[in-house]
Amino acid sequence: MRHSDEPKAPPTVKVTFILQDPKSLGKEEKEITVMAGKGENLLEVAMENGINIEHACGGVCACSTCHIYVNKGEQSLSEATDAELDRVEEAPDLRRNSRLSCQSVIRGDGPITVEVPAWNRNAVKEQPH
Ligand code: FES
Repeated sequence: MRHSDEPKAPPTVKVTFILQDPKSLGKEEKEITVMAGKGENLLEVAMENGINIEHACGGVCACSTCHIYVNKGEQSLSEATDAELDRVEEAPDLRRNSRLSCQSVIRGDGPITVEVPAWNRNAVKEQPH
């Protein structure tokens, strides 16, 4: 996974992940709150905390598998670029608060609340049916 190039600040920003389907992301809890640093992107924050959000392209804005919803704290994140907006349109179940987690860099003080859609599964971990 590609990490953001920015220096990481100390973890002072509260980020809550709401998992529609925790088991598919490697978790038991539906809601997980962690502290993150400015300069980190939301995919990094999730993965560092064991929330296995799918990220097929490795975090370079070339897929839409890391799609999330930002329910709160949007103003504490970097603005979406045109490239991200083009890409996120390919995600299923698009909403007005849709973002690509790998492109959402923490800039402000939060708190931030993010929802991870149920269809976000790490295909590598799924058993064949
Ligand atoms: S991981 Fe591919 S766009 Fe985010």
